[in-house]
Amino acid sequence: MNLTDRVAVITGGAGGIGAALAHRFAAEGAAAVVVADLDADAARAVAAAVGPVAHAAGLDVTVEEQVRALVADTERRYGHIDLFCANAGVATAAGLDAADADWDRAWRVNVLAHVHSTRAVLPGMLARGQGYLLHTCSAAGLLTAVGDAPYTATKHAAVGLAEWLAVTYRDQGIRVSALCPQGVDTPMLAEGLATGHLGARVIAASGAVLHPDRVADAVIAGLAEERFLILPHPEVAQHALRRAEDPDGWQAGLRKLVRRLRA
Ligand SMILES: NC(=O)c1ccc[n+]([C@@H]2O[C@H](COP(=O)([O-])OP(=O)(O)OC[C@H]3O[C@@H](n4cnc5c(N)ncnc54)[C@H](O)[C@@H]3O)[C@@H](O)[C@H]2O)c1
Repeated sequence: MNLTDRVAVITGGAGGIGAALAHRFAAEGAAAVVVADLDADAARAVAAAVGPVAHAAGLDVTVEEQVRALVADTERRYGHIDLFCANAGVATAAGLDAADADWDRAWRVNVLAHVHSTRAVLPGMLARGQGYLLHTCSAAGLLTAVGDAPYTATKHAAVGLAEWLAVTYRDQGIRVSALCPQGVDTPMLAEGLATGHLGARVIAASGAVLHPDRVADAVIAGLAEERFLILPHPEVAQHALRRAEDPDGWQAGLRKLVRRLRA
């Protein structure tokens, strides 16, 4: 898919990767870009900066009625949705000791919201025989986010759900991509680095921390090729291969890196 004349919705659009996607989709000639976020003021600021094709919406992706209302409103305004980007996400920076409320929030934002948005957007896409779902997962969904158990578990679930959707609906014209970046220079990672969180330091030590615009480049290329896995950090494919071939060896390597950073 290319973005020319397309109608796109981006949740988490007020943040680093989502905002970069909004700018890039508009630059690629999208007809409409809906910037949706919990932070409605920030979403409005991003939409204003993107220009007249952009429109802001405040919503909490964990509330299914709000997601349904966003989809219905967008379809009313623009006739249909070509591309739905389920991009909002949260990290917890906690291990097994994460409070149940944090596990619950990670599950609701990182996984269940993808279920809700797909349920809302799919009928219109199936009726047209076409549509594209871009789910922002993470390299953590293919590997492991050191120091963040809820993030790791829920991002693995997000990749699993995206793959299930791709297998189930591709023959009905629905294309699905799972966006799996490693380190990206956004408020989410900056917060982790500022507090010295081990996971953020492992990410920084594992490879390049990309500007969100480079993630947008990878998304444009991945959508054009209609590729399931979009990996802005190509080395993640090598890590995933190594992990699949030799899980024990891969874990040993990661533990070694963690020991080095702790020393
Ligand atoms: N930054 C990274 O290193 C990195 C790496 C891999 C994957 N990701 C994923 O990329 C996505 C975007 O993250 P980012 O790095 O741009 O972080 P970010 O914190 O800048 O952006 C996340 C956005 O999601 C919004 N959001 C959070 N909860 C929401 C809710 N309940 N309803 C609506 N909006 C909500 C936030 O307000 C924020 O604007 C996330 O899914 C994240 O897990 C980030």
